[in-house]
Amino acid sequence: MISSINTPDSIRRSDSAPESEPDREYYFIDACRREVSRRSEELGRPLTCCVVTFGCQMNARDSEKLLGVLKEAGYEEISREEEADFVIFNTCTVRENANERVYGRLGQLVHAKKKRPGMIIGLCGCMMQEPSEVETILSRYRHVSLIFGTHNIFKFAELLYRAMAEDRPVVDVWKDTNQIVEALPTARKYPYKSGVNIMFGCNNFCTYCIVPYVRGRERSREPKEILREIEQLAADGVIEVMLLGQNVNSYGKGLDEPVSFADLLREVEKIDGIERIRFMTSHPKDLSDDLIAVMRDSKKICRHLHLPLQSGSTRLLHKMNRHYTKEQYLELAAKIRREIPDIAITTDIIVGFPGETDEDFEDTLDVVRQVRFDSAFTFIYSPRTGTPAARMQQVPREVTQPRFDRLLALVQETAAARCAEGVGREDTALVENIDDHDSALVTGRLGNNEMVHFPGDASLIGKIVPVKLTESRGFYYMGERL
Ligand code: 5AD
Ligand code: SF4
Repeated sequence: MISSINTPDSIRRSDSAPESEPDREYYFIDACRREVSRRSEELGRPLTCCVVTFGCQMNARDSEKLLGVLKEAGYEEISREEEADFVIFNTCTVRENANERVYGRLGQLVHAKKKRPGMIIGLCGCMMQEPSEVETILSRYRHVSLIFGTHNIFKFAELLYRAMAEDRPVVDVWKDTNQIVEALPTARKYPYKSGVNIMFGCNNFCTYCIVPYVRGRERSREPKEILREIEQLAADGVIEVMLLGQNVNSYGKGLDEPVSFADLLREVEKIDGIERIRFMTSHPKDLSDDLIAVMRDSKKICRHLHLPLQSGSTRLLHKMNRHYTKEQYLELAAKIRREIPDIAITTDIIVGFPGETDEDFEDTLDVVRQVRFDSAFTFIYSPRTGTPAARMQQVPREVTQPRFDRLLALVQETAAARCAEGVGREDTALVENIDDHDSALVTGRLGNNEMVHFPGDASLIGKIVPVKLTESRGFYYMGERL
């Protein structure tokens, strides 16, 4: 199951690395720190690093863990990857274009590595779980020195040390794991908000999706570990947490003492200092009435539910292995809106799943019209090697592209209509940054995940402030501070 790790001689000569985690990783962080300091003395400057994230919130959180180790090891973070001494791409493989983007950026690093031969280039994440991609990289991208996957990311310190110590590429990809290693360092991107993994992997095997193959079986973290982490985050100034899992609604099922996601939310709600709770992603088949009730009665859980539809056609939903029908999804959305009227429902939709007919597609449009999503991520189906749908009869691009364009137009229309309804409302926004286009404005996130731009300065960043939404610009608001 696990490819063997040959401990480098330099480590074996010193006192031996502990077997248990996380002690072992802290041992290697120390070893890395010594090596980083030796190299930076030689160069007469600090060593720099850059973590480049592709894909979802899970990857973004994983990248914070990578950066945590790198900073502990003495690297300084910089934003330009071509100037860094250590670069790591945390990859995504959910659709083919994610892979293409990784190869594009990797190609650009060839020159950078020629200019600075000491540069270490690493790749990790979902794409590395695919043996064919690893083969391609090893044969065509010789400037890569470190490859590992999703299951052994907790071993990053050890792998980093090996990449520094060895002359040949270090490749260590595990097929699976049931280990969850707690208490490793992280370097958060934002001081005031943080993702928190509550579970890893996915057991659903939707037929188009590669995630269960590259992220492994579903496993939940112990509630006490999650709550301890959130308490620490709160003590550290975090006011908003995003609970992360591929299917949060089935949280807790495999634990020795099973706990439901709704139960977990009730506990998170009690943590002082945490003012906003978000979560992602909910599978419609597992969304309980209890969860709706907890959301409805909560002061902290944001009025936002991301509820991937994927298709509005019952026939296709069955072929996708989604376990709900068009009518069930519509009923669920109506129930949620009934119970929590000010909620925003967002979704993911795939166009051109194998065998999709005009009628199937019309069903999808119909659901979009009926639910009136506040926003939707729309994707053209991308065949993923090893998934059942990749072996089904494909729909040609000439058919999928016009459908995609129609769907996008409809989604934008309904989102704009929903956004317009919010004008005049008084709400609160968590200020995230100075507006990109106008430095007299700040950008804040509303509870329902929409953005509002309003006059303010950097002192507001990280604070929740009352605002009035004065104008809709289609998918965001202009506003004023109250
Ligand atoms: N092709 C297109 N979109 C996909 N997604 C997952 N797999 C595929 C695929 N093979 C979309 C789904 C999922 C989102 C994260 O990515 O809509 O909810
Ligand atoms: Fe993929 Fe389905 Fe699991 Fe989501 S629930 S990660 S779409 S298999």
